[in-house]
Amino acid sequence: MKNRGGFVAIGAGMVLLVLLIGGFGEVPVKAVAAVGDNPILDEMVIVDKAFREIVSAVAVGSGPKVLRALQPLHAASEKTYDDLHSGALTLPKNEKNISEFVNMDEKFHHHIEKLAEAAHKDNKDTMLSITKKLMDACVNCHKTFKQ
Ligand code: HEC
Repeated sequence: MKNRGGFVAIGAGMVLLVLLIGGFGEVPVKAVAAVGDNPILDEMVIVDKAFREIVSAVAVGSGPKVLRALQPLHAASEKTYDDLHSGALTLPKNEKNISEFVNMDEKFHHHIEKLAEAAHKDNKDTMLSITKKLMDACVNCHKTFKQ
């Protein structure tokens, strides 16, 4: 019994350690997100993490890794779509250009779909060219809508 207790304590300590280490990378975004309930920031936390993984996967030319990295984006995109259409989104900048935001968001998710197709075929050249387009899409949207 005594020993088992010890193992449980070590296990709990490990989980805490993993949570602490895992948490550091996202501290700035999470801190902002905690201030108000902001659906765009919530999606961006997911997009940001996924995009880093996509870049590594494309860098090593692995279609299966790209597909794995893309998975969390599907649910996030649906939620943003719902929020857009229920009026739950607020933009930090150029709020009146919401239709342009919708266009950019749709284009972004169109590239994501194309990337998934290329990854299914393990087409490395196409994966690379689409990932470059995604990078442009991040920067373009932020230029217009992020403070
Ligand atoms: C269609 C528009 C759009 C696209 C595309 C987009 N973002 Fe964003 N992103 C935003 C907006 C708007 C904010 C600011 C949200 C706020 O502060 O309320 C933001 C915020 C962020 C943040 C929060 C960090 C900070 O300093 O405020 C990160 C990280 C981020 N985006 C990463 C990405 C990455 C990586 C991509 C591309 C793979 C991307 N975004 C694509 C609109 C977009």
